[in-house]
Amino acid sequence: MGVYELTGILLYVLLCVLTVLLLWRIRKQKVNKPRLNKAPARFLETPTEDEIASLKDAYKLDWRPERKVNSYLPDTVPELVGVSEGVSPLVTELIYKLNAPEVSAKDIGQLIASDQGLTSFVLQRANSPFYGLVQKVDNIFNAVVLLGSAEVSRIVIEESMNKSGIRPSRSEWFHAYITSIIAAYISNSIGMASNAGTLVTMAMMHDIGRNTLHKNISQQEKENIPEDPRARIRQEIDLFGIDHARLGAMLARKWNIPENVCKCIEVHHWPMFWPLRDTAKDVPDITRELAILSVSDVTARHYTGAIEGPYIGEDYYLFIRKPPDPSRILVPELRRRLDRIRNMYAQRSIEDNQ
Ligand SMILES: [Fe+2]
Ligand SMILES: [Fe+2]
Repeated sequence: MGVYELTGILLYVLLCVLTVLLLWRIRKQKVNKPRLNKAPARFLETPTEDEIASLKDAYKLDWRPERKVNSYLPDTVPELVGVSEGVSPLVTELIYKLNAPEVSAKDIGQLIASDQGLTSFVLQRANSPFYGLVQKVDNIFNAVVLLGSAEVSRIVIEESMNKSGIRPSRSEWFHAYITSIIAAYISNSIGMASNAGTLVTMAMMHDIGRNTLHKNISQQEKENIPEDPRARIRQEIDLFGIDHARLGAMLARKWNIPENVCKCIEVHHWPMFWPLRDTAKDVPDITRELAILSVSDVTARHYTGAIEGPYIGEDYYLFIRKPPDPSRILVPELRRRLDRIRNMYAQRSIEDNQ
C-alpha cells in the first residue's frame, strides 16, 4: 500500500469520527434544551382578547384636561387654598422623614413624642380593638415598633389634615387609607420597600383637594357627581376651572410638603388620560411612584365596587410588574387586610352617628 492510499484511509477514518462526534453533540443539545415553564408567573399570563381590546381603548377619549400645569388659574383658587389652615411643622417634618429611606422607628417616635396631644391620640388609636394588641401600649416608641412607622404615619396624617380645616369625610379617608395600603403592598412586592414611606404619604394625601372643592358645590351638583373618575375631573374643571389633583398639590405646597409628594398629587390622574411614554417625559423623577399611586387608586375603587374597567393603560401596570387587572392585584391576603379596614371605618361611622 502506498503512502497516498494510507493517507486517504486515515483522512476517511478521521472524517467518519468527526461526523459521529458532531451527530452525538447535536443529539445531546436537543436532550438538554430547556423546556418552557408550563405555569408562567401570574402577571405573565397572556391577556384575553377582551382584555387586549379594552386596554387598547384606554386612551381613545373625547376629552382630556390641560396637561400644562402652569396654565391659567381662575380667580377663585387663592380663596379655595386660603381656607385651609397650615398643618403643624411636626407633620411636615414627619413627612420629610418618611421620604428618606433610612428613617428609623426611633426617629419617628421621637418626633411624635414632642407633641403631647398627638402622642395621646396615637396611643388611643393604637389601643383600639382594630389592632388587637394583647397588652396596652403606653408609650409612643412601643406604638411605633408594634404598629410600624407607616401605620403610625397614616394615623398622624389623618389627624393633622382633619385639624387643618380640610376635614375629609370618613369615606374619603377610607379611600385614602386603602389606597395607601395597596401602594405599600405593591412597592414591597416589587422590591421598592425603601419607597414605601413616600408612597404612604402620597396615597394618604392624593385626594386632599377634593373635599375643598366639594364644600363649594351645590346640593344638586353633589347629587350629580359621576362615579367615572375622568368625568369627575371634567365636572370639577367645568365648575371651578381647576381639578382636585392640582388644588391638592397647591395645598400641599402651602404646607411645605416635599416637592416629589406635591408633584405626584398634582399629576395623579394623568395616567387616566395619557400613556406612560407621555407622562414619563413630563415627570421623569416620579414616574414609578406615579404608576404605583395611580394603579393603587384604581384598585382601591375596584375594591369598593365604585368603578369597573382598567381606566389606565396596560403600560403602567407592566411598568410596575403587575397584571393589568385590579381584581388580580387584589390577592386574598390583601383583600383580607382591606376587609378589616372597611370594618374599622364602618364602626367609626356608627360611633360618629351615636
Ligand atoms: Fe383623585
Ligand atoms: Fe383617589
